[in-house]
Amino acid sequence: MSKVFTKAALGQLTLQNHLVMSPMTRNRATDNIPNALMAEYYAQRATAGLIITEGTSPSPNGLGYPRIPGIFSKAQVEGWKLVTDAVHAKGAKMFLQLMHCGRIAHPLNLPAGARMVAPSAVAAAGEMYTDAEGMKPHPAPQAMTEADIRSAIAEFAQAAKNAVAAGFDGIELHSANGYLLEQFIRPNTNQRTDAYGGPIEKRSRLVLEAVEATITAIGKDKVGIRLSPFGVFNDMPLYDAMEADYTYLAQQLNAQGLVYIHLVDHSPMGAPPVPDVMKAAFRKLFKRTLILSGGYDAARAESDLAAGKCDLIAVGRPFLANPDLVERWKTGAPVNEPDMATFYTPGPKGYTDYPVMKK
Ligand SMILES: Cc1cc2nc3c(=O)[nH]c(=O)nc-3n(C[C@H](O)[C@H](O)[C@H](O)COP(=O)(O)O)c2cc1C
Repeated sequence: MSKVFTKAALGQLTLQNHLVMSPMTRNRATDNIPNALMAEYYAQRATAGLIITEGTSPSPNGLGYPRIPGIFSKAQVEGWKLVTDAVHAKGAKMFLQLMHCGRIAHPLNLPAGARMVAPSAVAAAGEMYTDAEGMKPHPAPQAMTEADIRSAIAEFAQAAKNAVAAGFDGIELHSANGYLLEQFIRPNTNQRTDAYGGPIEKRSRLVLEAVEATITAIGKDKVGIRLSPFGVFNDMPLYDAMEADYTYLAQQLNAQGLVYIHLVDHSPMGAPPVPDVMKAAFRKLFKRTLILSGGYDAARAESDLAAGKCDLIAVGRPFLANPDLVERWKTGAPVNEPDMATFYTPGPKGYTDYPVMKK
């Protein structure tokens, strides 16, 4: 092992190693406010180089799931300070993932006065969980007006400022996995005929404007983005121009100069693989930090870093199940398996009670 456990650079930051904890929604934020239990969970895992939080909504409209956190109220900023203080005390850096769920939502999961909005009024196939009534079919969202789009961009910028006020080292725009920003990129969910729909130059406009607005708000070194080329999660089918569209995005994002691109590959979870040529295109076109994720173990992390395929490796389920993952990977110790039944349930069970190795 040579590279994984050595220090790494991310913009101006120095990370204690090359491992990133992937963003993972855990639904422990009662009333959408981060709390002491969440601070304990993240601090347990703060031997990572960088922790990216679970998807966090920039606005009431963006809260699609029950008990996910926000970053738009004073109480949420105060709650997140508990988390960032606890994590920084153990040496990790921390970015907040800004996730606007768009159409992947249900009115039963939204606070009073919030609206389910998306590029077009196209309902997602399937159902989603609500605390009030269990599984419910996805309703059709309202198509956003241009005023709605302007508000959403302003909300991303304000949320980025709030994140910095809460002590985060930066933010990650969640433009992957079928949520609002990806809903604009993809033609199945974006059927608009205005300046935000049609060819990729227009379908990517909201994403690029959100990047620009957050860079203006907090600076290039504090803004990253997550993308899922070839991702199909949340009813986002493959289409012919996928590779060309994401190649265009890689070029535009490079010109904007944000600090990192974080690519999702959910083939270890049964999704279609991201072709190697797509990952290589991002590597070639994007000059700053590239993070790869999906199905990594220590050996594959080392070999992809050594081969120069990326700069950092993000790891999800192994970090979820192993607070001391870094130590386990370093020493080749066995790892705990994640318990899917408690991924999204309230309380400490399956959250803060995964065992660490005996000393
Ligand atoms: C419980 C759970 C929650 C997740 N929530 C998010 C999320 O909020 N945002 C996101 O971008 N990805 C989310 N993901 C995807 C992970 O970040 C990661 O891409 C995926 O788990 C594959 O990586 P792994 O094989 O290392 O687990 C989630 C995954 C899991 C298992």
